[in-house]
Order: sequence, then structure tokens, then C-alpha cells
Amino acid sequence: MSDIVFELTEVHYSYPGKFPALCGIDLTVRSGEKIAVIGANGTGKSTLLQLLDGLIFPHKGQVSAFGERLSEWAHTDENAAHRFRKRVGLVFQNADIQLFCPSVKEDIAFGPLQLGFSTKEVERRLLEVSGVLDIRHLLDRVPHQLSIGEKRRVAIASVLAIDPDVYLFDEPTAGLDPSTVRHIIDFIVEANLRGKTIITATHDLHIIGEIADTVYVFGRNKQIVREGAPESVLSDRSFLEANNLVHIHRHHHNSKEHLHQHMPLEPHE
Ligand SMILES: Nc1ncnc2c1ncn2[C@@H]1O[C@H](COP(=O)(O)OP(=O)(O)O)[C@@H](O)[C@H]1O
Ligand SMILES: [Mg+2]
Repeated sequence: MSDIVFELTEVHYSYPGKFPALCGIDLTVRSGEKIAVIGANGTGKSTLLQLLDGLIFPHKGQVSAFGERLSEWAHTDENAAHRFRKRVGLVFQNADIQLFCPSVKEDIAFGPLQLGFSTKEVERRLLEVSGVLDIRHLLDRVPHQLSIGEKRRVAIASVLAIDPDVYLFDEPTAGLDPSTVRHIIDFIVEANLRGKTIITATHDLHIIGEIADTVYVFGRNKQIVREGAPESVLSDRSFLEANNLVHIHRHHHNSKEHLHQHMPLEPHE
């Protein structure tokens, strides 16, 4: 079926030394979907995104993208790899992995240049995406000297410059101030409205109502333990507790300390 972007069947992946990271994942992603992958630390979210981005390949089972099986072609068939890179972009959790050029400008231009766009087109994209992400003032800066929020915007700009059909975001709002979080959420929502498929790994439950229509919850068993609409997953307190997804806050009241949990949809007192 042409509207299927990714199809995963019984996917298993283990890191060298046999650390299992994904243990039997079945997942179908259709064009234009907005998906969140949530789960406690170490449940396999980043590994999934790397598989979807063709950076690693399953040890068992199969990953297909746009109707073609993803396999080690990335290292052997340059044309296929270019086609894939034009369609799928990953914004890494750690922007330092993504940004390696001497200037922000070069980092943003790197992807489109690699993919064979003309210098004029690259220049046009650079101007456009730096406007969208509000980073024009940073273009001549050294990426490593930027703040974490600035780096995240530059990393997103470097993917937007490729204008892929599918955006993969790994913890896009972690460690950012509220206005940068707002900007990134708006970017995700707007990209989806333009028809882009969005898959976001996050454990920030407050944002998933906006960035997802469907939520997949990864459990400690490295499997999908639940799939559903954000409201139905977020309102199930015992499920969230069992999966280590509710925040526990330490509070002081009249010198007495107590712990309590916040549900993601409750106001934070
Ligand atoms: N480079 C690596 N080498 C060995 N094990 C790894 C590596 N990266 C991740 N893992 C393991 O794989 C599992 C899933 O990790 P990850 O996909 O990073 O989870 P998440 O993104 O949900 O926090 C964890 O048990 C983690 O320890
Ligand atoms: Mg991760």
C-alpha cells in the first residue's frame, strides 16, 4: 500500500555484547501520521528511531520504508541511500552528534549539498530554514559554543533544510526552556499540517497531546505495551505508574517532606 511509510515486523535488535534493545516490535506508520513513542529510559525509543533512519538494521525481523526493505544498502547503493536521505530525517537527542561543521551555516548546508542540491538552492534553503527556526543571528557562530536550546534549533534546521517527508525527533524538548519548547512543538504541529509524517520519542508527557494522534508505549520488556490516543493513555494512572512514566515530586510543607505524583494532564502545584 502506497501510503505506508514504515512497516516493522517482529523486529529485534541487540547492541554488541548482546544488550537487547528491541524485542519483537510490530509497527505500521502511514503517511501524514503524528506519532509519539514514549517509555522510561532504556526502553528502546532511540534504538527504534535509528532503525527507522536506516542507521542500524534489525537482527531479526524486518523494517520496510516506502515499500522497500531497509538493509545494508546504505553502505552499497549510493542512489538508494540518497533517495532515502531525502525522505527521512532524524533530529538526534544529542545535537553534538548532529553538528560537526565549523559554522552553523555549514552545518545547515551540509545535508542539502551532500544530496546534490545546487549552491543556489542550498543558499535559498539556508535563508528559509534559519528564518523558520529563528536562528539567522547564529549562522556564523561555532555550533559547539551554542546553548543547548540554540543547538537544538540548529539541528532541526539542518534536517528541515533537506525537507524530508518524515521527521524523526529524539527527545526534542528535553532540557529546554519553555519558549524554546513552545517553538519546537509549533514547528512539529505545523510540519504535520504540511503533510509531513512525524515520529517523536519523548518522555515529556505534557507535550504528547499536541505532537501526537497516536501514542506507542515502550515497556521494560523492550516491546510495545500499549497503543492508543494520547488522552486514553495519559488518563490511565496505574498504567503510567507501572511503566515508570509519572513524575514523583518532592515537596516541603511546614518543614515536612512528602512525595507525590503528578499526572501529566493535571495542573502542577
Ligand atoms: N551503544 C549501545 N551499546 C550497548 N547498549 C546500548 C547502546 N545504546 C543503547 N543501549 C541499550 O539498549 C537499550 C535501549 O536503549 P535506548 O534505545 O537508548 O533507550 P531509550 O531511548 O528508550 O532511553 C538500553 O538497555 C540501553 O542500555
Ligand atoms: Mg533515548
